[in-house]
Amino acid sequence: MHFLIALFLATHALAAFPDCANGPLSTNLVCNTSANYKDRAAALVAELTLDELAANSVNLAVGVPRLGLPPYNWWSEALHGVASSPGVTFAPRGEDFSFATSFPQPILMSAAFDDGLINRVATVISTEARAFNNANRSGLDFFTPNINPFKDPRWGRGQETPGEDPFRISQYVYALVTGLQGGVGPSPYYKVVADCKHFAGYDLEAWGGVTRMSFSAPISTQDLAEYYTPSFKTCVRDAQVGSIMCSYNAVNGLPSCADPYLLQDIVREFYGFESWDGWVTSDCDAVGNVFDPHHYTSTLVNASAVSLKAGTDVDCGMTYATTLASAVNQSLVSESEVRTAITRLYGSLVRLGYFDPPGGQPFRQLGWSNVNTPDAQSLALEAASSSIVMLKNDGLLPISPSHFPRLALVGPWANATTQMQGNYQGVAPFLISPLQAFQTAGFNVTFAPGTAINTSSTSGFSAALVAAQDADVIAFAGGLDNSVEAEQNEEGEDRLTISWPGNQLELVSQLASLGPPVIVLQMGGGQVDSSALKANRSINALLWGGYPGQSGGTALVDVITGKTAPAGRLPLTQYPAAYVNEITMTDMTLRPHGSSPGRTYKWYTGTPVFPFGFGQHYTTFSLSWASKPPASFAISDLVRAARVSGGFVDNAPLHEFRVKVRNTGRVASDYVALLFSSASAGPQPAPRQELVSFTRVKGIAPGASATASLPVTLGQIARFDEKGNSVLYPGQYEIWVDTTQEISARFRLTGQETQIVAFPQPR
Ligand SMILES: *[C@@H]1O[C@H](CO)[C@@H](O)[C@H](O)[C@H]1NC(C)=O
Ligand SMILES: *[C@@H]1O[C@H](CO)[C@@H](O)[C@H](O)[C@H]1NC(C)=O
Ligand SMILES: *[C@@H]1O[C@H](CO)[C@@H](O)[C@H](O)[C@H]1NC(C)=O
Ligand SMILES: *[C@@H]1O[C@H](CO)[C@@H](O)[C@H](O)[C@H]1NC(C)=O
Ligand SMILES: *[C@@H]1O[C@H](CO)[C@@H](O)[C@H](O)[C@H]1NC(C)=O
Ligand SMILES: *[C@@H]1O[C@H](CO)[C@@H](O)[C@H](O)[C@H]1NC(C)=O
Ligand SMILES: *[C@@H]1O[C@H](CO)[C@@H](O)[C@H](O)[C@H]1NC(C)=O
Ligand SMILES: *[C@@H]1O[C@H](CO)[C@@H](O)[C@H](O)[C@H]1NC(C)=O
Repeated sequence: MHFLIALFLATHALAAFPDCANGPLSTNLVCNTSANYKDRAAALVAELTLDELAANSVNLAVGVPRLGLPPYNWWSEALHGVASSPGVTFAPRGEDFSFATSFPQPILMSAAFDDGLINRVATVISTEARAFNNANRSGLDFFTPNINPFKDPRWGRGQETPGEDPFRISQYVYALVTGLQGGVGPSPYYKVVADCKHFAGYDLEAWGGVTRMSFSAPISTQDLAEYYTPSFKTCVRDAQVGSIMCSYNAVNGLPSCADPYLLQDIVREFYGFESWDGWVTSDCDAVGNVFDPHHYTSTLVNASAVSLKAGTDVDCGMTYATTLASAVNQSLVSESEVRTAITRLYGSLVRLGYFDPPGGQPFRQLGWSNVNTPDAQSLALEAASSSIVMLKNDGLLPISPSHFPRLALVGPWANATTQMQGNYQGVAPFLISPLQAFQTAGFNVTFAPGTAINTSSTSGFSAALVAAQDADVIAFAGGLDNSVEAEQNEEGEDRLTISWPGNQLELVSQLASLGPPVIVLQMGGGQVDSSALKANRSINALLWGGYPGQSGGTALVDVITGKTAPAGRLPLTQYPAAYVNEITMTDMTLRPHGSSPGRTYKWYTGTPVFPFGFGQHYTTFSLSWASKPPASFAISDLVRAARVSGGFVDNAPLHEFRVKVRNTGRVASDYVALLFSSASAGPQPAPRQELVSFTRVKGIAPGASATASLPVTLGQIARFDEKGNSVLYPGQYEIWVDTTQEISARFRLTGQETQIVAFPQPR
């Protein structure tokens, strides 16, 4: 997305509904709520001339004045709260609709490994979105979530995603999309329409002279099926999302928005069984990019034609508006193909209640009083505090103001406010900085920023050292923020290094030599190499706090003081700094090879600083199997049972593993149970490990036990062959719980190798 353009267009006319009571459309079937939504949309589209179709095939649809069809902007945003975007207009400060609840960034919320939480957050976001829409302040279609796996630690937009693991992302996206849309393909009305982006293989902005606008990602069919697309399968097939977005980049030479293999064969046929009637939007200007800079077509008119024919229904941009009519005139695409695309768009608006008569429209009761409610505020706090990951603690934490009254707070995040929102943010109702939160908690705080995120200037050091010298405890808050990691401009941005930027660690080192104990808060979405902090005994504790949103300071202080026991787990790997010298960003392969140590916790052959899934607690747990795992499963029985039960075979159960979790320490705490597996069966090299199930068990009291139920599906235990098919292979499997392999078991799959999912093959 181009954010500068987004802000520029934000002043465009506010949405309004078509007049289905008295206007020219009132006699058209589109306004008849007893009719089927497809017929209603088709009846409207039948009225439109080719020029009117073209004028409404772009995100800034101008409507049809003669029919009383108002303008509509398809592009609103709500990644972690209703967000500033072309379709969303916040009111001036002090007025109603001047803010919306600002939740943490997905990379942090993902760390809670609590999909009930994600669903509750999405439900609040869609409620607030409807309230904004009712006030003519937002659209009903939101270009969210970003579900490309965060594969390369340098990626500038990784903070928008739920992390690096396709299974974790899939569970997150299911919980999120069903919360936003109001259920699975809800009937009769969508609450709002979500948009899973960016399909496919998009995780590079600008690196080494290559940009997202022209990059052609070389991706094997195996990696496409196994790593880059499972989150989209869950989004379209299982959560029945209303729309997806094709990406700027090309895959194997074909720009995504012009690729019928991606958009027809994979999305509509394989995920949607040809019955998915959601729509596909281009990323903004991606249709124009098919012509330039991709040079896939020799004219802009043909770029429109090939994109529409491939399955891009709406152009976020202006290319369709200016060229589709010519493309039809030149017989590069048929008018009926254009009508099909526009019918999908209006079908989705019908399902949103947009064409219902005023008295009958759904969700009309939602208004300003439903925004930033006390429940929403406490949910934003819970989403942050339950996600924060404790990476190190030598026993110092938790601390209280009675034992450590004087706290020195230093670093470029110490008084963070808007920094805590990350990117794709809205206007928050309030932003509780770490400084404010420590003061509220009763600490006597001395504050000095000390340094900036990325500077070599040491001019602030002495003030910070003075502030810290008489303290009982020193807290340093720094790391990354949008100034070094986010998509900042039209070119986008990736990091070149994954070390702590600037001189922050130098300042931490000087603070650590003063004497008082030191707590480091590592903030930001991507990881930085904290191995020096991990190894150094002068650093007593290390927390990762991501972008924690409106109550971020309170969440951090709640964890530090023990009001909330930390239980988050890293949804991504923290690599050593040298990793970026070992692999290029343009290398899309996952498995290790001559010039790659492998990617993500599944294939990385080196030693991470902190592994995917890592996180510590204020208490200790002992684990045992609550029921003994079976020693073997017959593949034929599994597949037969799956076919009998109906649903998708890959969603059918292998087994529900049950683990007894006993709190053997002295602090009540949640525990995230992560079940990993590895296979010696099937094609080699196999992933070293794969997350196959997880659950968050809440509030286990000291001395008490709880049972973690860990269902594993056939799809999770299947392996991907070179053609991307999912196959159950006979042989030996190992499973274990937690990154520390607290308990483990082995089982065999017996019988014949059996394919359970056939992946579409390239054309
Ligand atoms: C509305 O649609 C229903 C179902 O298609 C149809 O039976 C009914 O006659 C329509 N009403 C009007 C006023 O057209
Ligand atoms: C929104 O637009 C509609 C239609 O133009 C109008 O009737 C209504 O008063 C507007 N609502 C608000 C809150 O501005
Ligand atoms: C349009 O572009 C496609 C893809 O490059 C190409 O196959 C086709 O021949 C082009 N058509 C025209 C008329 O240029
Ligand atoms: C389509 O072609 C006709 C006849 O060649 C021409 O009159 C008309 O202007 C063309 N329309 C567009 C949009 O190119
Ligand atoms: C902290 O940040 C807020 C908001 O930017 C600012 O108003 C306040 O003065 C800052 N506090 C200090 C002590 O610098
Ligand atoms: C806070 O600490 C400073 C410096 O040690 C001290 O002068 C001041 O009295 C303390 N304030 C309170 C409220 O304890
Ligand atoms: C930090 O600043 C240096 C020097 O200006 C610059 O070269 C580097 O790219 C910056 N790093 C990041 C991560 O922005
Ligand atoms: C640990 O930090 C202290 C204080 O900054 C420093 O003197 C020491 O050299 C560090 N040790 C290591 C192994 O980095």
